[in-house]
Amino acid sequence: MEKFSFLIQLILSILAFSSLFHGGFVSAARTKDGSEQWGYIQVRPKAHMFWWLYRSPHRVEDPSKPWPIILWLQGGPGSSGVGIGNFQEIGPLDTELKPRNSTWLRVADLLFVENPVGTGYSFVEDEKELVKNDEEAATDLTTLLKALFNRNARLQKCPLYIVAESYGGKYAVTLALSTLKAIKAGKLKLQLGGVALGDSWISPEDFVFSWAPLLKDVSRLDDSGAKKANSIALQIKRQLAAGHYVNATYSWIELDGIISMASNFVDFYNFMLDSGRDSISAMAMALSKGERMKMYSRYLNSKSLLAGGSDDINTLMNVVIREKLKIIPRGVVWGELSMSVYSALEGDFMKPRINEVDDLLAEGVNVTIYNGQLDVICATKGAEAWVKKLKWDGLKRFLSMDRTPLYCGHEDETTRGFTKSYKNLHFYWILGAGHFVPVDQPCISLKMVADITHSPIVISS
Ligand SMILES: *[C@@H]1O[C@H](CO)[C@@H](O)[C@H](O)[C@H]1NC(C)=O
Ligand SMILES: *[C@@H]1O[C@H](CO)[C@@H](O)[C@H](O)[C@H]1NC(C)=O
Ligand SMILES: *[C@@H]1O[C@H](CO)[C@@H](O)[C@H](O)[C@H]1NC(C)=O
Repeated sequence: MEKFSFLIQLILSILAFSSLFHGGFVSAARTKDGSEQWGYIQVRPKAHMFWWLYRSPHRVEDPSKPWPIILWLQGGPGSSGVGIGNFQEIGPLDTELKPRNSTWLRVADLLFVENPVGTGYSFVEDEKELVKNDEEAATDLTTLLKALFNRNARLQKCPLYIVAESYGGKYAVTLALSTLKAIKAGKLKLQLGGVALGDSWISPEDFVFSWAPLLKDVSRLDDSGAKKANSIALQIKRQLAAGHYVNATYSWIELDGIISMASNFVDFYNFMLDSGRDSISAMAMALSKGERMKMYSRYLNSKSLLAGGSDDINTLMNVVIREKLKIIPRGVVWGELSMSVYSALEGDFMKPRINEVDDLLAEGVNVTIYNGQLDVICATKGAEAWVKKLKWDGLKRFLSMDRTPLYCGHEDETTRGFTKSYKNLHFYWILGAGHFVPVDQPCISLKMVADITHSPIVISS
């Protein structure tokens, strides 16, 4: 999206909203059979969050295993869970509206949200209402959960699993802590089943230090490229230690550029691939920091690399799905990634959330980490490094345990991954997957999510 047209759209949107939503606004709709419901919740004055709930047709009642519900949190920050997570990754239909065999709806109900406000179909009437850190995002999401769960006995019986991808992991852990607090205070009627962090940006410092050694080991960087990259990683470490978070975000962009050049444009989502944007990346080196930020924002964003391409999903969401949903205000233009949401979070972007993971472990919450073998941006090497920094008392035992190999189906003879668990910490290593694990390895991902959510449906194939 061009900056200019974006601004114009924004101005138009603000004009449209001030008349449409004056005096508060509630709206929701559903399919005739009730299997899908969606709507807006005003989470704060002038801040409207869109949600979409799918009830599974595969639901079974098993008193020992309550039917789970998954809240999917997309990354970005600012990329659309309702568009990308739903249609490109785990929802019942793909971007061509054909059934997805491996949809996670087979094992759970699914709740997609446009989070934070300003993302996708969500909107703010004033840019000042955009969230500036993960805690603010968690507060808005908690408000949404109160509105959906508190008066719905059926939902209250379903344990909620917060499953995140990429930057979404930072929201997931802050949200889980915020829901626990609200539950304890009697303000939220919900059972928190657990948190799953898929290729999640929990410790930016550990990820930036993982890039050069990983890419060097797989021949994508040479010594000199690795050395240059490491010197920027050290600069980031110093900036983080000094609390200069915005500057660390800009150094991250610089590091990204250096690695792109030195690796001849490795795909940060899968080191076996090229990014396919060589000319854009090269051009970006010559741009100002702000412009580069826009260019490189793609990295923590699920995007058009996935099947479909960005034009297709734009048409799908702004024409076809919009018609189906009926309640999307005219001024709201759906986008894969909201740059304003992204920019508003630039001061929080590089902050780690390891302490929040520790807090959840101490509270006894089940925390699952899963990582695709081929990811660079949130590399397994970086995830293992931050896990080693946990203060959790089970860590030593967890690290010393052996892993169990994973297969998909009774006759499968190929190792699809490994897993291990100790007490409430669980880790899955998914082989042959990059950043978008459910897209790259749908079979083992479905089996994994059935296990994580203790679904009564057992996936054997
Ligand atoms: C869909 O899933 C079923 C059951 O897991 C499997 O038998 C079938 O081969 C899958 N179909 C496709 C097209 O992947
Ligand atoms: C946490 O996971 C373990 C093993 O997967 C399970 O037995 C336990 O019931 C889960 N705890 C909660 C609170 O869901
Ligand atoms: C952050 O970066 C800007 C521009 O590069 C620089 O002028 C400023 O001194 C830096 N701030 C800190 C605290 O390092």
